[in-house]
Amino acid sequence: MSRRIGDVILEVDDLHTYCFTSYGVVKAVDGVSFSLRQGETLGIVGESGSGKTMTALSLLRLAPRPTARIVKGSIRLGGEELLTKSEREMRAIRGRRISMILQDPQTSLNPVFTIGNQLIEAIKIHHPDGHRSLVRRAIDGLKQVRVAAPERRVADYPHQISGGMKQRVVGAIAISCEPRVLIADEPTTSLDVTIQAQYLRLLREIQQATNLGLIFITHDFGIVAKMCDRVMVMYAGRAVETGSVRDIFNRPSHPYTQALLNSVPSMDDDIARLYSIAGQPPTLWDLPEGCRFAPRCPHADDRCRHEYPRAFSVGEGHTADCWRLEKEWTPRPFSASTG
Ligand SMILES: Nc1ncnc2c1ncn2[C@@H]1O[C@H](COP(=O)(O)OP(=O)(O)OP(=O)(O)O)[C@@H](O)[C@H]1O
Ligand code: SF4
Ligand SMILES: [Mg+2]
Repeated sequence: MSRRIGDVILEVDDLHTYCFTSYGVVKAVDGVSFSLRQGETLGIVGESGSGKTMTALSLLRLAPRPTARIVKGSIRLGGEELLTKSEREMRAIRGRRISMILQDPQTSLNPVFTIGNQLIEAIKIHHPDGHRSLVRRAIDGLKQVRVAAPERRVADYPHQISGGMKQRVVGAIAISCEPRVLIADEPTTSLDVTIQAQYLRLLREIQQATNLGLIFITHDFGIVAKMCDRVMVMYAGRAVETGSVRDIFNRPSHPYTQALLNSVPSMDDDIARLYSIAGQPPTLWDLPEGCRFAPRCPHADDRCRHEYPRAFSVGEGHTADCWRLEKEWTPRPFSASTG
């Protein structure tokens, strides 16, 4: 079956998730908007601490409480607002309609339960069948993620299986209830290159078979090129540029995106140069008044330092927050259904 990009399934508008700490209010997600279509893959990229995981956790209403709170915005899944749902309603939605592979899958499996048990626990939330049927579903789930000899593997404990296999089990748990949207938060960082390639292929095959909308969080532009249709670049809690993969690679319009792409090493470069943009991102509890990238931007002027830039449309479904674009492009307010 081939992948078909369908209707918008997820619309996020002006999302704000703040962490209330003893040292101040950390604006981890500070006005992020995007949309996702069925069968589409959206990549989220940005330096460490830019708010990628917090955005993803917010979509499931799992931002760590009591510190983190969604203070403003809208998240519509299949047209339904998630921010007004009760915790009970959210439990029925998580896993079944929107699911997530956490950033550190090695620790998302409980070492004291077999992998079969952990799959069954996830499945029975939405399919309260008899034990035999649940075991069958767990075995089918492992088959779906190409785990060999799944009938035997269900009895294994996490320490008995390899890192690559653990990753597949975590994937199996995430898709066990056939969600329409799957978020994969850096799912391949801890894997070696061959296993990583296999895992990415597997995710693509699952997407082709189920037409789910995939949000792929990564530091790796190589993965973005292979996996994604569109990209959202995050900086200091904001989405500073969004566009198709082709536009972002061919016509990066925000100086931060340009710097990120310039810092991707070529074959001859030292890998340590990756993401080595001069300077540091701002602290999120003491943000600069104007453009957050201004302290590191070679083009910053006085206005940049005092006024946050508007989003400028630089092409069909391609927007960037940068004053430099004002001369060339007219501002267009973001619409969640763009793209
Ligand atoms: N529980 C918390 N309490 C206070 N601040 C937090 C908490 N969790 C995250 N933050 C802050 O929120 C910001 C965004 O964090 P987030 O984990 O979303 O970053 P990220 O983009 O996923 O980074 P990485 O690439 O390292 O995974 C960071 O500045 C982080 O320090
Ligand atoms: S608004 Fe100014 S400081 Fe910010 S990225 Fe654009 S040119 Fe640089
Ligand atoms: Mg993260």
